[in-house]
Amino acid sequence: MTSIHAQRRAHLAALLGPGGIAIIPTAPVVARNRDSDFPYRHDSYFYYLTGFAEPGACLVLTNEGHATLLCQPKDPEREIWDGYRLGPQAAVQALGVDEAYSSAETDSRLPHLLENRTTVWFPFATHAGLAARVDGWLGQVRTRARTGVLCPASQSDVCQLLDEMRLVKDAHEQDIIRRAGAISARGHVRAMQRSARMLRAGEDVREYHLDAELLHAFREAGSQFPAYTSIVAAGANACVLHYRAGDAAIRAGELVLIDAACELDGYASDITRTFPANGRFSGPQRALYELVLASQKAAIAATHAGARFDAPHDAAIAVLAQGMLDVGLLDGNKVGSAQDVIGQRAYFPFYMHRTSHWMGMDVHDCGNYVEPAQADQVSEHVDALTGQTVLRRPSRILHPGMVLTIEPGIYVRPTEGVPERFHHIGIRIEDDAIVTADGCELVTRDVPVEPDAIEALMNA
Ligand code: GLY
Ligand code: MN
Ligand code: MN
Repeated sequence: MTSIHAQRRAHLAALLGPGGIAIIPTAPVVARNRDSDFPYRHDSYFYYLTGFAEPGACLVLTNEGHATLLCQPKDPEREIWDGYRLGPQAAVQALGVDEAYSSAETDSRLPHLLENRTTVWFPFATHAGLAARVDGWLGQVRTRARTGVLCPASQSDVCQLLDEMRLVKDAHEQDIIRRAGAISARGHVRAMQRSARMLRAGEDVREYHLDAELLHAFREAGSQFPAYTSIVAAGANACVLHYRAGDAAIRAGELVLIDAACELDGYASDITRTFPANGRFSGPQRALYELVLASQKAAIAATHAGARFDAPHDAAIAVLAQGMLDVGLLDGNKVGSAQDVIGQRAYFPFYMHRTSHWMGMDVHDCGNYVEPAQADQVSEHVDALTGQTVLRRPSRILHPGMVLTIEPGIYVRPTEGVPERFHHIGIRIEDDAIVTADGCELVTRDVPVEPDAIEALMNA
């Protein structure tokens, strides 16, 4: 049986064109401080094609489908310190590649592999120094020109091919993303319960206590890492979009915004929930929460095969614009109708990010947001807020198996003219959606999202 990775290599090989050859290295080990490294994370493109998570490896693939792997050599002494290495000999069988050699031979082997090829494909602008190394290898091929050796005459970005392949997730990938979503949801449930429990007991609850619940749930279920740095934001901290889990006190009466999720077997998840620290929404908190939730529901309803990537964002904005007028966040006498709010982007001070991004191996996954076949259909718009002319292209048409987040929010910093009851409230609700033929499957709903259900969970 051919492995999923071998199938992907065959698919990529067929796209390289006659004489094409691709070079795809994994990620380097990154030092944290002195003798400590950051936890190692493989390169997503490399892993997609090999399923191999060791550092120090590089895949070379020809258009004929011949795969050569360079990988760390066996080294009994280093393995005592750093752990088991697969090694080139075992790699051939374990990974289904045609040949494998020690990574120490990379610079001597690559020029030979590049001889008489037409185009060399490699990831552009993702691996520091790679383009210079490719130049060096090509330079060596050129020195053999007088012996009749041909040198590749063009270089292309292999990400262009792999991004398209990765955009639609196969059944194997969808299964992992579902499991990652369920684990992350469990972490959010634990964090909500911990917050309510500690406040009921009169304890001093801090953002890091809830972060600890998330990490516990992720690791306990076999997740290797958080998919990104957790945001656990108490009260006004929720209005800082990239706030990290810190040591701020979480107080009854405040909201807590948690944007945190695990990575499982190379695939991300991405969940945000906002909940009352002690398990009871105040009136103004619930009013804004219900508005964000309504906008998310509209965005979810707009997510299906055949719709555009922008459709959920536009649907969310339409609900938010009307709702901001209805609850008094915006004054209709000043900003006009909901249509005006959208046209003038008057919602922007309270909702300044987009509703969706692709998600997959990377939390902000690769993939073109413009429909490739319509990329030349450019229209000009004057942005009402900045007065600048912006170019727009038709956004991507959604297909079954594409995965995106749906994450509207409202963030109210104290501003003159904005009712005080809303000050310092920051709310985002984020779920992960697999596009299906007639809708989408939300894979992160094992944690409640309805306000009554959140209150019930936290007061159980
Ligand atoms: N957690 C990253 C994001 O929501 O985009
Ligand atoms: Mn997200
Ligand atoms: Mn998120």
